[in-house]
Amino acid sequence: MDTGAVELVASRICAAARVTVMTGAGVSAASGVPTFRGAGGLWREFRAEDLATQCRVVTQNVDDLHLRAGTPDVIRLHGSICELCCSARCGQPRWRDERVPLTEMPPRCPRCGRLARPGVVWFGESLDTAAVAAAERAASCDVFLAVGTSSLVYPAAGFMHEARDRGAFTVEINPEATAVSDLVDVALPAGAEVVLPRIEALLTAGSGNIA
Ligand code: OAD
Repeated sequence: MDTGAVELVASRICAAARVTVMTGAGVSAASGVPTFRGAGGLWREFRAEDLATQCRVVTQNVDDLHLRAGTPDVIRLHGSICELCCSARCGQPRWRDERVPLTEMPPRCPRCGRLARPGVVWFGESLDTAAVAAAERAASCDVFLAVGTSSLVYPAAGFMHEARDRGAFTVEINPEATAVSDLVDVALPAGAEVVLPRIEALLTAGSGNIA
């Protein structure tokens, strides 16, 4: 990996007031969660995107790893597999159930008794409008990083373009080339679990050590 490119990204993050990170399945690959389209990861634990206090994280992932890592205010565009909701939309608010396996199969809504379903976005369904609006706001930033996503699925993939159009410095972290690799300012072709700790180390060391 190009050390100068990593230092450039760290320096841009250091100088930025607003940093937005869009993550996809690849950011969980090293934790053992399979990607949707990628070739797989290095299968080791890591702490992702704890980059800077101003980092806003937008994720397409439903695995809740960002939540468990302690990342604050994650915008979850596709919901969470750890949440359930009533399939009949009876008014019961979403509820969390992290037991594996669930004790009642199939799970039922505690309010109306009808079938429950995972609190994730299925194909053909609309995304939560509040989450999309929050992601659109987050696209107004100084630095935008796309980490571990094939950038194929919209509307998530569109936020990179919006950020770029609004003048953000754009970065991709992905061991494989994607549709946006040639569009970003810097493409870092390596795993998130390799690149993010290096950026974090540079940020922790302080801007004086960054080129
Ligand atoms: P994909 O499976 O499409 O892409 C995962 C990307 O992660 C690929 O480009 C891989 O090259 C990359 N990758 C693999 N290992 C990596 C690593 N260690 N570090 C960094 N990158 C790595 O997953 P998404 O882009 O997240 O939607 O897919 C987007 C949406 O498509 C998902 O949220 C899901 C699916 O349909 C819904 O479920 C609604």
